[in-house]
Amino acid sequence: PALTVRTKERGAELGDLFGIFFEDLNHAADGGLYAELVQNRSFEFDPIDHPDYHAFMGWEKVERGGGQAEATIGESQPINSRNPHYAVIDIAAEGNGVGLMNLGFNSGIPVKQGDRYLFSVFARRDASFHEPLTVTIEGADGTVYGETVIEVKSADWTKYEAVITSAATDMGSRLVLLTKGQGKLYLDMVSLFPEKTYLKRPGGLREDIAKLLADLKPKFMRFPGGCLVHDGSLNPDDRNSMYRWKNTIGPVEQRPARRNNWRYNQTLGLGYYEYFQLCEDIGAKPIPILPGGYDPHHNRIVPIEELSPWIQDALDLIEFANGDASTTWGAIRAELGHPEPFGLEYIGIGNEEVGEPFFERYPYFHRAIKEKYPAMKVINSSGPFAAGTEYERGWQSAREHQSDLVDEHYYSSPEWFLANYHRYDNFKADDPKVFLGEYASWGNTYYNALAEAAYMTGLEKNAHAVGLACYAPLLCNVDYVNWKPDMIWFNNHEVYGTPNYYVQQLFMHHQGDQLITIEASGLEAAPNDIKMPINGGLSLETDRCSFRYWDIVLVNNDNGEVKKLNSGLPCTLSDTEEDRRNGTPVKAIDLGETDWENYTITLKAQRMSGPKGFNLKFGQTDEKNKRIWE
Ligand code: AHR
Repeated sequence: PALTVRTKERGAELGDLFGIFFEDLNHAADGGLYAELVQNRSFEFDPIDHPDYHAFMGWEKVERGGGQAEATIGESQPINSRNPHYAVIDIAAEGNGVGLMNLGFNSGIPVKQGDRYLFSVFARRDASFHEPLTVTIEGADGTVYGETVIEVKSADWTKYEAVITSAATDMGSRLVLLTKGQGKLYLDMVSLFPEKTYLKRPGGLREDIAKLLADLKPKFMRFPGGCLVHDGSLNPDDRNSMYRWKNTIGPVEQRPARRNNWRYNQTLGLGYYEYFQLCEDIGAKPIPILPGGYDPHHNRIVPIEELSPWIQDALDLIEFANGDASTTWGAIRAELGHPEPFGLEYIGIGNEEVGEPFFERYPYFHRAIKEKYPAMKVINSSGPFAAGTEYERGWQSAREHQSDLVDEHYYSSPEWFLANYHRYDNFKADDPKVFLGEYASWGNTYYNALAEAAYMTGLEKNAHAVGLACYAPLLCNVDYVNWKPDMIWFNNHEVYGTPNYYVQQLFMHHQGDQLITIEASGLEAAPNDIKMPINGGLSLETDRCSFRYWDIVLVNNDNGEVKKLNSGLPCTLSDTEEDRRNGTPVKAIDLGETDWENYTITLKAQRMSGPKGFNLKFGQTDEKNKRIWE
């Protein structure tokens, strides 16, 4: 076999093809990349985040040696209106100390012997209260690993800071705040960070996870979501608001904790400034995605005549990223510590907000951005590939308004990826380019990773049509799984890349600049069908699909015997919403040793919602040995 490389026959440039997509789901930020060790530091967790949540979530009251105190949530005199709740310790008997203990994320707060931890708290006290606050890092059995003592001097909210060095290594420790005396002590924004964050930035990112991202060498980073961008109310001051970037910059105590649509609370400690900083640190171009004024899940729609502030958010963001210090938002960026611009080149409007209200609103954003910033590349949205007409509508809108790129998403079986290797072959070079903003095959096995690698060669060779592509989701905390598979898994002290991660890394490390013609000779033609033994079970699998009915009927060709495998009216294929999100195989029927050649199989289904296609597998139910029909 020989390869002929024609270096003078040049094709499309690959540009920024392979990047990453960060969304705070699976506790990717809080309890993940954002290195804060205290869970619920500002006592803002609320049932609106998750039905089981409450303001003392992650905290326990401590009463030592006969101490007695009441711990309540105050709201009459908050630090500021965006941080409305705080803890009140009302001491009845001091004993050996009373106060609060934070349990951290996962199994506790991870500390290492000799490492320094940066503690801070906002506190105030009643005039009658004069005792200091003792802060310790302790093992679950009460062994003290490190301590600091703070004099709470004022009846007004004051920030106190101290460094605690741990004398032990323990991945399940606690942060304990104890006091004595009489009266009331008020606490808020209780925070503990490892001093060792990524590039030593205070209040920064977990070193090990950020390093894994940097090691990918991504060309870009899409953020902050995903569905968390558009899911929420239209009022930016609402804790249930859509993701509004202006809420995410400045001192962390002034950022409102937010309901994250992945059913937890998001502190916004990792906000837009930090996202831009991270992009710069790892050499990735930033690609922010802003809500387009339409929440498709709850049908919340910004009236067209009230769209200006939303469009202004987009224009201001561009100025925040690129304006010099003479501009309003450029000056704010400079004041936050970054006088140089961040060099924003792309901006996305909407994430899967496909539906007519989005397509009515998109042009207003597009025109305003292009008018002020003609070179800015504006990304439209076509949403999930299988969504059918909405998907086509996204492309229609993109062509009509000359969007630079169209964001399309799909999650499917590895076989789908293999079978669709040619998907972009016929896309046109003069159309908007594809931003494959989310894709993954359902699994973290080597087989999945190989299928994705094969597919990525198809993305590369179609660089005339595909501008950007990023796997999703990126991160998952093993104890807070909203969605799987994911590229990187971690707990509170360990992090691992999956085979899919190493495939992404391979392509990012070796992304070429431009296509050239390569011809192969002397190779055997690849078989066009995959042969496999057929026996075992039958299963149905889908990604977030529900059906009015589905019936599978098997008729034995020899004797006419009918096997009706399942039916329902109406039914969803998966048992839980989580299963659907996870793409978990949903119904599997083990038929043992069936002679499949002898059967005629009929599947009838009517889709109610979700992607159009789903997979009917027959053959062995293990991942490797199966066949899929769509
Ligand atoms: O990547 C997980 C989710 O999948 C994203 O939030 C959303 O855009 C898509 O539906």
